[in-house]
Amino acid sequence: MAMMLQRKLLRRTFGEGKAILNFNSNPILSPCTSFSTVTSAAATQSHDAPRQLPPFDYQPKPYNGPSADQILEKRKKFLGPSLFYYYQKPLNIVEGKMQYLYDENGRRYLDAFAGIVTVSCGHCHPEVLNAITEQNKLLQHATTIYLHHAISDFAEALASKMPGNLKVVYFVNSGSEANELAMLMARLYSGNLGMISLRNAYHGGSSSTIGLTALNTWKYPIPEGVATVQLNQVFRLHLGAWWGSINMTRVKHTGRSKDTFSSRPETRSYAKAHNNLVSESAVMGDEKTLTAKLEAFMEQMATRQQALEEQMAILSLSVQKTTKGNSEKNNEEQGSSGGKKKNSDSQHGGGMVPRYSKMEFPTYDGVGDPLGWLKRCEIFFGNQRTNEEDRVGLASFHFLGEAQLWFDQIEEEEANLDWEHFRECCHVRFGPPMSNNPLGELANLRQTGTVEEYQRQFQSLLARTTDLKPRQQVNLFTAGLVEELRIDIEMQQPGNLGVEMNMARALERKQKVSFKMLSQTNLNWSAFQNAGSTSIIPTTKSFSKGGGQTTKPMGNNNKIGSSAPFIKRLTRAEMAERRAKRLCYNCDESYSMGHRCKRLFWIEVPDIEDEQDDEVDDLEISLHAIRGTCNSSTMQLPAKVLGKTVLVLVDLGSTHNFLREGLVPRLGLKIQKKSGLQVCVANGERVPSIGICKSVQFVVANNNFQADFYTIPLEGFDMILGVKWLCTLGPILWDFSFLTMQFAGEIHHVINPDPFRGVFGSDATRYAKDVQDHIEYGTSGKVAGFIAETIQGVGGAVELAPGYLKQVYDIVRKAGGVCIADEVQTGFGRTGSHYWGFETQGVIPDIVTMAKGIGNGLPLGAVVTTPEIAHVMAQKIQFNTFGGNPVCSAGGLAVLRVIDKEKRQAHCADVGSHLIGRLRSLQDKHDIIGDVRGRGLMVGVELVTDRKEKTPAKAETAILFEKMRELGVLLGKGGLHGNVFRIKPPMCFTKDDADYLVDALDYAMSEL
Ligand SMILES: Cc1ncc(COP(=O)(O)O)c(C=O)c1O
Repeated sequence: MAMMLQRKLLRRTFGEGKAILNFNSNPILSPCTSFSTVTSAAATQSHDAPRQLPPFDYQPKPYNGPSADQILEKRKKFLGPSLFYYYQKPLNIVEGKMQYLYDENGRRYLDAFAGIVTVSCGHCHPEVLNAITEQNKLLQHATTIYLHHAISDFAEALASKMPGNLKVVYFVNSGSEANELAMLMARLYSGNLGMISLRNAYHGGSSSTIGLTALNTWKYPIPEGVATVQLNQVFRLHLGAWWGSINMTRVKHTGRSKDTFSSRPETRSYAKAHNNLVSESAVMGDEKTLTAKLEAFMEQMATRQQALEEQMAILSLSVQKTTKGNSEKNNEEQGSSGGKKKNSDSQHGGGMVPRYSKMEFPTYDGVGDPLGWLKRCEIFFGNQRTNEEDRVGLASFHFLGEAQLWFDQIEEEEANLDWEHFRECCHVRFGPPMSNNPLGELANLRQTGTVEEYQRQFQSLLARTTDLKPRQQVNLFTAGLVEELRIDIEMQQPGNLGVEMNMARALERKQKVSFKMLSQTNLNWSAFQNAGSTSIIPTTKSFSKGGGQTTKPMGNNNKIGSSAPFIKRLTRAEMAERRAKRLCYNCDESYSMGHRCKRLFWIEVPDIEDEQDDEVDDLEISLHAIRGTCNSSTMQLPAKVLGKTVLVLVDLGSTHNFLREGLVPRLGLKIQKKSGLQVCVANGERVPSIGICKSVQFVVANNNFQADFYTIPLEGFDMILGVKWLCTLGPILWDFSFLTMQFAGEIHHVINPDPFRGVFGSDATRYAKDVQDHIEYGTSGKVAGFIAETIQGVGGAVELAPGYLKQVYDIVRKAGGVCIADEVQTGFGRTGSHYWGFETQGVIPDIVTMAKGIGNGLPLGAVVTTPEIAHVMAQKIQFNTFGGNPVCSAGGLAVLRVIDKEKRQAHCADVGSHLIGRLRSLQDKHDIIGDVRGRGLMVGVELVTDRKEKTPAKAETAILFEKMRELGVLLGKGGLHGNVFRIKPPMCFTKDDADYLVDALDYAMSEL
């Protein structure tokens, strides 16, 4: 459709202008013939024929190279099909001088686009040319591994042009490279990944910068930025030592860093010892095989060590008991003989060599009941014959984290703390609430959660009581069990507490299995899970509305058959209704004191949260996640939560994120409690979760993340990252052979603050609010950075709403990000009012990127930033073969000199305002001009078919574009719809040039 209209309009426009169309191919015209001399045929037919191109004293050299057609043919054959060219009949430009270009026939064109805003000083500017030529004669290239004054002189001159603390320069070869580097810096510096850029922006076409670019014409349908935004530095736990540095990858088995919380045994000493045995050449040789063998060996050793430690602990205990017994006996004897009572340890130690010299002292971090730890300390003391006066010091030396902090304080308050007092203090601080009557508490203790939990509480209280006989212990434990277990246990009459506890756990497991079978009948048995009797297998039978649902025993397991109680399910509303009607919950008789139902019944009422919170997803966790299985196929990584290191498993078998329950108080996290929350383990078991910790911030390899975590009792890992959260990372590249995981940082394209087309007009505050919203709703609350051109170039010379950058820079910096100004097109005085585009918005960025005009056509780009941000790049080598190349540096330095010497910034202001003024007048004359905008020599003319609707005049723009070329003016075209003329000539463009351009445009538009 657009093509048809275009053809029609072309016919209309050029139908009577044959002289113009024939002009280019006219072989008899001299190379420097002025355009206007041959356009007279067309001009005479127009009321507003353009004048002659301004005179220019330059004679191009005769051209003997291949023709435009030959070049095009070769280009099609040997260059990529994505290259595009301007004009239906592409121009073969063979020479350039200042603001003019010459084609193969020597025809002169006014260059109003400067090789896409690149030729700043002018084509083949003599001073720039001279600097390049002189440098070329001496040295073209050596790279930065050697010194050369050109790069440092250029860097110094460039830094002197920058405001604020923007003093560190990096040289690259293009705008895309500059923006890539800026993005890398932003991410490294901020520790965040997410970037924000504007819709309608163009920041380059490389695999990362294409992500920042927000114009569909340039974007390929593949994940953007994966190649660069990667977390690919390998972090392995190799033979017990951290090997390599950062990142997302699996941690190979056994050992772990000391400050992580998980409870797996430490194998560091073994690991290190064996590490020392491995020669470097062996490691460097067949490393993989060797590693595998050593790891297998390590695994064996770790298992054996653990077994030995357990044996040692048992033996120590019996040794201690015996010794204690002897010592008590001795003491009694000595006491009776009037001898001084001796310390039992010094007794048993008398010259005896400790049996287990490799016994490790246990550590305690203040989490959980200290009783067990204190007991182990005492075993150690007994075994190692530790003197009384050394005990507190030794034990407190093994405090970690919170416990250590506590001790530092108590030590100041309590001088000469002895072991007994130390024990008491530990109990007061970390133990369960103190009670003067542990026996009473024991008698009142009831199972409310799992048997395991009840058992733990029971043992803790039991350890604080004395003189309880085994039978009494059994009876007390039985009394506290939930009824379903108690009945069975009472029937079994276990002989001692250990057997009873074991039995209770087994019965509980059996019930869970039965429950699983029950739940397969599609009933909601949530209230039944922990307490249900094995003997009741339900069937469903619908009750009439309001009567609830009744389930009665059946099936082959119904050992108690018809005597089993009915299970009646009532919602809270149904219960309330029955209460109001004074009806029995079970039968339909009225209820009064003393009412007896004919049958035993069991009411299942959903928890309040169950009824209200139907949003809770199905939570599933994999077996190795919950068990803490640590093998080479699991992806593990260390992370930091509130400054503390935790061990994380990245687990595709888990649906959600989970956090070890015990960590919640330790990390000081807030938990949102939810009752009845169950996590389904891969084997079908269900594990209760107390609730959810919302928006937990954690740091992995310097990157900040935020996520919700369900709490759950985990064994080996502190955190599990499940699929639901992993999805939020977008496409992920896993490399299981190199143990890496890479993903692109997300890029948010915020609403373009375009005063002409933008939804909020020129209201910068409302556009800035969109940035805030993106940060709040679309990110973790933290971002790496924000990038924007100050006048969008490719997007159609769109100037940002006044005051926008100031507000956005504040918002972004508050969210931890850095602000990047892309000055690839707007820099070096082109805007006239300022040397840098960002200055027009009264801001100072943290990073400035530049290219194009910086080299007047040389392949040159640069990034300038603050020393603080540059510092993050010192972690690694940042190398660019041609960046800062002597020839480009000499050329770049000459560009800076010329711009200053020829006062190009002021010139742009002067000529630019003249040009914009004339274009605005033209807008009054031609309705097709929807908007004239820009600053200095960075100007846009947007064409619309309908001023009110702002309908892009796409086809008309294409026609006028061709027509302007015929009239000898080379414009740029841009905007998403290609309906904007971009006028960004070399900065030596004159007012006469501007007049000619406007006259030509006027003429072409009149001819439309
Ligand atoms: C504003 C802006 N940034 C970056 C780039 C990318 O520069 P280069 O093409 O040198 O990679 C461009 C290119 O047009 C640009 O206009």
